Amino acid sequence: MKIIELDETDSTNEYIKRMNFSGEVTVIARRQTDGRGTKGRSFVSGEGGLYLSVLRIFEKFDPRDAFRIMVNACTAVCKTIQSFGVTPGIRWANDVLVGGKKICGTLIENSFSGNGLRSLTGIGLNVTNRLPPELKDIAVNLSEVSPIKVTVREVGQKLIKNLSNEYTIEEYKSYIGFFGKKITLITSSGSRSATALDVAADGRLKVLEENGEVSLISAAEVSLKS
Ligand code: BTN
Repeated sequence: MKIIELDETDSTNEYIKRMNFSGEVTVIARRQTDGRGTKGRSFVSGEGGLYLSVLRIFEKFDPRDAFRIMVNACTAVCKTIQSFGVTPGIRWANDVLVGGKKICGTLIENSFSGNGLRSLTGIGLNVTNRLPPELKDIAVNLSEVSPIKVTVREVGQKLIKNLSNEYTIEEYKSYIGFFGKKITLITSSGSRSATALDVAADGRLKVLEENGEVSLISAAEVSLKS
């Protein structure tokens, strides 16, 4: 796949959308001036982090399989982090953590037309970038936790290679540590406790509510505190 390396852009996802590429491409930027996160949040993107977006083009794609893209992205990130001697975990649906702190976020943007799909996987991984003081308690970078010296280039190469593999939802789930545990679901109308049971094939989280009912929750509806 073609790889484009940029010194700076607003957001590698936005860059790919603007360029309207006709073929698959990976874009990496050394820094982003307007990094985007999920739910309209921004993503701090200073030098030393890995900011990468992959455009995949499928002639035929069943929208019911969309969660597979998230499975692949998060699992590829976890495998990459492990190869640097660090144990990662996934915070459903799209964050990768180390020691309870966020090391990586993914932003997947899908555009379906007819039977086809243009799918953007944006990955922001903290490698050697300095984290702002207000994020110190909730975020971490790979160089702080790895016993091996890490460089953005090397981490990027491993991640790109891993992203070309296909992973199963079972592998994805093996990185989730909260099954059987109480979690806090934060919704627009308040927060509530539930027990995390499973992640369904469509990506929804299966929980046991306090009233004894089982419900399926989509990532767009809630944030988690575990
Ligand atoms: C999140 O944590 O909410 C998702 C963060 C995704 C960040 C990556 S960095 C590369 C790509 N470009 C962006 O603007 N966002 C994604």
